[in-house]
Amino acid sequence: MFKKIPGTRDILPDQVASWQGIEETSRSLFALYNYKEIRPPLIEEAGLFNRSLGDTAEIVQKQMFLIQKAEDEYALRPEGTASIVRAYVENNLDKTAGFEKFFYIGPMFRMERPQKGRLRQFHHIGCEAIGSRDPALDVEVISMADTLLRAFNIEGYTMVINSLGCANDRKEFSASLNAALKNHLPALCEDCKVRFDRNILRILDCKNESCKAIVKGLSLQNAHLCRQCAQDFQRVQKGLTSVGVRFEVSPYLVRGLDYYTGTVFEIKHHNLGPQQDALGAGGRYDTLVKELGGPDTGAIGFAFGVERLLLASHNPPSRPSAKLVYIIPLGDAAREHGIILLHTLRKNGILADTDYENRSLKGAMRRANDLQAAFCLIIGDDELKKNTVMCKNMATSKQKEVTESELINFLGAGCRG
Ligand code: HAM
Repeated sequence: MFKKIPGTRDILPDQVASWQGIEETSRSLFALYNYKEIRPPLIEEAGLFNRSLGDTAEIVQKQMFLIQKAEDEYALRPEGTASIVRAYVENNLDKTAGFEKFFYIGPMFRMERPQKGRLRQFHHIGCEAIGSRDPALDVEVISMADTLLRAFNIEGYTMVINSLGCANDRKEFSASLNAALKNHLPALCEDCKVRFDRNILRILDCKNESCKAIVKGLSLQNAHLCRQCAQDFQRVQKGLTSVGVRFEVSPYLVRGLDYYTGTVFEIKHHNLGPQQDALGAGGRYDTLVKELGGPDTGAIGFAFGVERLLLASHNPPSRPSAKLVYIIPLGDAAREHGIILLHTLRKNGILADTDYENRSLKGAMRRANDLQAAFCLIIGDDELKKNTVMCKNMATSKQKEVTESELINFLGAGCRG
């Protein structure tokens, strides 16, 4: 017997309603904010991610699913931002459209140690707004993330924001951290010892208790921000307050990917466990578009992990399903006629099915019950002769003989898909 790969999941039909609810809620909200869907491939040149996320990023170092084909190295996409910027540049959207707002929904792949809320194939719902450095856009993107969470019926989350500043500020920040942490080097965990040389900002993010204690003692104050970046960050905070988004500012929030500059944010939720508490995250990446061959322009986006949204929501939105009408033909002639009736019902937009297992009347009724059918249409020889069906309301158990010409009206709007 084959088993699924650890860290992957079968999303079974009884779970799909919540997935569709989350996806459809997102689609309509993104449409309201004028974001257009984009669907890049799931597989890209590995170099795209090395270049965008940075060679020292944990995802690039340890987590990429790589496929070697002769000279070429491909990767299953570990995230969406790099692909979307690549698509924006490759398709000349910077020249034809300029400023563009995208959203995407789909699977991502990371070779992680699987646990609750951490998978190897997981799903992102995300957006990227490319072509502007206006802090008002940061406000739109962060407040849209907040509105989405409310629409998913998720409570008890915390929106944490910070600014990493421009590339120069980041450099200065790294240098000041280097000076502050140098003496603590022996007390850092093994991972952070490596991060010290390769990606020092990530030490601020470490979950190890002794590293956390050292980091807490640093008293960071966003002092690295230049005047422009400090002003922009103030405007983002003012804008968020004016549209009613609650947030916390944390100078300790850094993101593990090289492309981030300026505003970064993370949405934390207590239900997810100590090792991974983020429902979603995002930020500005004002140098990436140029880095990938496009114009020197700003961009910002975020992504939610759908599996984590579902863990955090006790009442995820779900698509209301139509009521099922179940046809039970008794005998061969009725069975032949049942095919036509089934076709007619469906043509009229009614959710309908039938027994394909040749069950007895009792067995078919039991099956209809299991399927939570609203009505059973029983067709025997008598009904066939009169062009009627015996219509049983499964909630009241009342039966009524209905002519086929009246049937669509009788079943009513409740059964329409
Ligand atoms: P990220 O923080 O790597 O950001 O991923 C975003 C979200 O995806 C996380 O907050 C988490 O909810 C979910 N996630 C990540 N890894 C896993 C996993 N192994 N299993 C389950 N869920 C996971 C990005 O990917 C950026 N591209 C976000 C972004 C868009 N920044 C700007 N634009």
